[in-house]
Amino acid sequence: MLVFWWGQGAAWAVPLLNEPILPVPECRMEDGAKVRLGRQLFHEVRLSANNAMSCATCHPLDQWGMDGIPHSTRADGTLNTMHTPTVFNAVFNLAQFWNGRVLTLEEQVDEAVRVDMGANWNEVVRKLSQEPQYREEFARVYRGGIHAENIRNAIAAFERTLTTPNSRFDRHLRGDESALSKQEKEGYQLFKTLGCISCHQGVNIGGNMFHRFGILGGGGEEVASEPGELDRFVVTGVAEDRHAFKVPGLRNVARTAPYFHHGSVATLDEAVTIMARGQLGYTITPKERTLLVSFLFTLDGETNGDCR
Ligand code: HEC
Ligand code: HEC
Repeated sequence: MLVFWWGQGAAWAVPLLNEPILPVPECRMEDGAKVRLGRQLFHEVRLSANNAMSCATCHPLDQWGMDGIPHSTRADGTLNTMHTPTVFNAVFNLAQFWNGRVLTLEEQVDEAVRVDMGANWNEVVRKLSQEPQYREEFARVYRGGIHAENIRNAIAAFERTLTTPNSRFDRHLRGDESALSKQEKEGYQLFKTLGCISCHQGVNIGGNMFHRFGILGGGGEEVASEPGELDRFVVTGVAEDRHAFKVPGLRNVARTAPYFHHGSVATLDEAVTIMARGQLGYTITPKERTLLVSFLFTLDGETNGDCR
């Protein structure tokens, strides 16, 4: 842990307190036995109807928690219309899914098992109950033993540990003067002065509000959601929420291409250009784009924190 010294002459490690972005906490405390069980369940193919797919199929943890393709295929062979977001740092988001249709990680697991993995809970519980090792571990951790609610709780507990602390940017926020290059610091300044920060902020540099994507429908005229688009309108029924999505967190964003809810933008250069134009009505210069992207590259955190 860093100890901050406020006395005179302390030129090192003075945290930047007035910043609109907060560092990822270094460690999140969760019940160790639950987390171990949750990790195992996250990789368990028997959660799917065809015994061939686990959460990690679409959210591989050694690939920054997502599959890197525009649209994943569900267990039943149909395509997901929305692009797979990372599971890393999802715990910081105000709600889950691009349109925020569920509030908790537990509810999110429920939909993933039923829809993505095509399974039903009675069947999942039956399959896991056949395994003596699961019977023992569940009995140790939960009073109710192997039960849908306990499965959801264990996976969510594991997900709450999937944070990515200690990025170079967080070291900068914590006062390490040498963590960022001059260019990267300029990139962060530009991120603030251009106004990216008005939507991408807080611990996850996003994830704490919904916003319309692009200028489509910006004039208040009646516009339709696109086919298959699970936008915020689906949740609220309010016309202004058409094409609105949760502002995604930008931690590790350099590693989680392709971009946007449709996953059809392959590079960060392009994503940043679209954002400036669509969200801020501003055409960035190549120099500005380079600076912004160099800042975004400093957001890579550690995916194997020692809490687990
Ligand atoms: C077939 C691929 C697939 C599988 C399997 C899958 N997911 Fe997902 N996951 C997705 C897609 C696609 C979305 C986005 C859907 C949307 O927003 O409408 C998503 C969204 C999420 C989110 C929300 C993240 C955010 O920032 O909003 C979490 C958390 C998550 N999945 C965890 C899980 C867990 C846990 C499992 C296993 C129980 C799982 N997923 C299984 C494809 C998958
Ligand atoms: C008015 C709010 C708003 C502003 C301002 C804004 N963004 Fe976004 N940003 C969003 C929303 C909403 C999305 C998700 C859009 C979607 O996928 O439909 C997004 C998505 C992104 C993505 C893609 C992330 C991913 O995982 O797919 C990047 C990168 C990004 N923004 C960077 C920036 C940068 C850089 C700026 C400043 C030039 C900026 N944003 C300004 C709201 C905003």
